[in-house]
Order: sequence, then structure tokens, then C-alpha cells
Amino acid sequence: MTRQHRSILVTGATSGIGRSLALAYAAPGVRLALLGRDRARLDEVAARARAAGAEVEAATVDVRDRLAMAAWIGQADAAQPFDLAIANAGITTGLGPDDLAEEPEAVRAILATNLVGVLNTVEPLVAPMCARGEGQLAMVGSIAGLHGLPYSPAYCITKAGVHAYAESIRARLERRGVLVSLIVAGYVKTPLNDSITAMKPGEITGDQAAALIKRRLAKGHATIAFPYPLYALARLGRLLPARLYDRIMLGVTASVPRTRERV
Ligand SMILES: NC(=O)c1ccc[n+]([C@@H]2O[C@H](COP(=O)([O-])OP(=O)(O)OC[C@H]3O[C@@H](n4cnc5c(N)ncnc54)[C@H](OP(=O)(O)O)[C@@H]3O)[C@@H](O)[C@H]2O)c1
Repeated sequence: MTRQHRSILVTGATSGIGRSLALAYAAPGVRLALLGRDRARLDEVAARARAAGAEVEAATVDVRDRLAMAAWIGQADAAQPFDLAIANAGITTGLGPDDLAEEPEAVRAILATNLVGVLNTVEPLVAPMCARGEGQLAMVGSIAGLHGLPYSPAYCITKAGVHAYAESIRARLERRGVLVSLIVAGYVKTPLNDSITAMKPGEITGDQAAALIKRRLAKGHATIAFPYPLYALARLGRLLPARLYDRIMLGVTASVPRTRERV
């Protein structure tokens, strides 16, 4: 069965994948609820989505703010129920080649955004969607969530946490008619990804990623992983002895700047 989503929440809609998703869904008969923090970029996406025929509500809400997220999402869902929510907002942080450990403040900031921010997006919708017996909750994870990476420990924690959360809630929610989809993204050319110095095998554009995600969400896929070869390699990596995997990863040159975000 292919779903036609008509009422969609997207967090992190001001840039990158979230922006491309907003514009991929923008069409007559579609209501988009777009969240981000940068007012100017949010207004630009909202205007483009409206020009494509969508009805748009856009608000600057920080995904780390549980009460503000619950209040905004709750009122928007009560006004017009969401049939799809995509918890996409995220940041990155990591280490340069000679760094040993991440700054605790940067670690707390990324946990608050990438992990708690996903909870803050999903939690307000669980009860109303289950009560309606329909809806779809999508969370953006990463191939970096499949195995720890020496150059981005905290980012890997957050994405592994998102994967575990999606996998944990899926069975019970799906028995109540609410689909749960985990997006395991590889490299997508966005401002977040541009800040990272590394080889980026299989990199695609935000628009390509959004088209692929939209197509597979419509089919109700539980896991939307791309590019497949990198996903398969990361999963195979889990079968290697730990120290062999470490040796291979130490040979990978990558540098990820520390986030300036703070809790
Ligand atoms: N690009 C990749 O290669 C890649 C790979 C795997 C997974 N991902 C994941 O994909 C998602 C989107 O990333 P992207 O590459 O599209 O990055 P991006 O272009 O930097 O966009 C990130 C979005 O998240 C929003 N955001 C960040 N912190 C926020 C906060 N505290 N409250 C509300 N919104 C916040 C930003 O909004 P403002 O700028 O308005 O604050 C922006 O709209 C992230 O979860 C990322 O981890 C990306």
C-alpha cells in the first residue's frame, strides 16, 4: 500500500535534508508544519512551499525545549491531525585527527539536540496517533549510528540512541496502527556535512535524499537506509573482531569540527 501524506510535521526544515523534505512534500492539498530556529531561512522555505500550493504553518521552536515542543505540536495536531512527523533536526560535533576527547559541553549539546530533540518531537504524537489508530513517525538516524566512529563519538551515541528508540517503540505502536520508520542516512550534501572533512562515498544531494525518503515513507518502510553499499559495509563491520575494526577505522582520515551549540 502506498500512503499519500497530507498533514506533515518536519523539524529542521530550515536547511539541508529537512528543507528538501519540506519542498518535496509541498503541493496543493498538503498541510506542512515546519519547525526550525533561523527565522529568515524558515520564512524562505515556507514561502516556497506555499508557492508550490501547500498550506504552511512555520514556527521557530528549539527541539531541545520539551515543553515548547509539546505545546506547539499538541496544538497543531489538535487543529489538524498529522499523518506523518519527521524528526530530522540535528547537529554534528566531533574530533580533529589529534584530539583525544570531546568537550563535555559539546557532548551535552548534541545529546540535547539529536537525541532528546527526537524524543521531544515524537512523544507528543504517540498518544494522539495511537488514539486515532493511524499515523507515521519517522526519525532521522545515520549510518554513524550503526557503529562507533573514532572521530565523532557523541554524534554516534545520539544516532545509535535514535535507532534504539525507533526499534524499541515500533512493535507496540504498529499494533495500534502507527508506523515507525527509521531513516539511516549516509552522506548527504548539506551545511552539516560540508563542515566534515572526510571521504564521503555515495554522497547524494539533499533533494535526492528527500525524494528517496519520501518514496520509502509512502511505502511504510521500517528502515530507510542509503546508500545501500555503505549501509551493508557498516553492518558487516559489526561482525569483525573489535580491535580489527579499530585498526581499520584508525586508518580513515576524518576531521569533524566541535559544535558551538551549548545546552
Ligand atoms: N548530511 C548528512 O550527511 C547526514 C547524514 C546522516 C544523518 N544526517 C542527519 O540528518 C539530519 C539533518 O541534517 P542536515 O545534514 O540536513 O543538516 P543541516 O543542513 O545543518 O540542517 C540541520 C537542521 O536542524 C535544525 N536544528 C539544529 N539544531 C536545532 C535545534 N536545537 N532546534 C531546532 N532545530 C534545530 C537546523 O535549524 P536552524 O539552522 O534553523 O537552527 C536545520 O534546519 C540531522 O539529524 C543529521 O544528523 C545527516
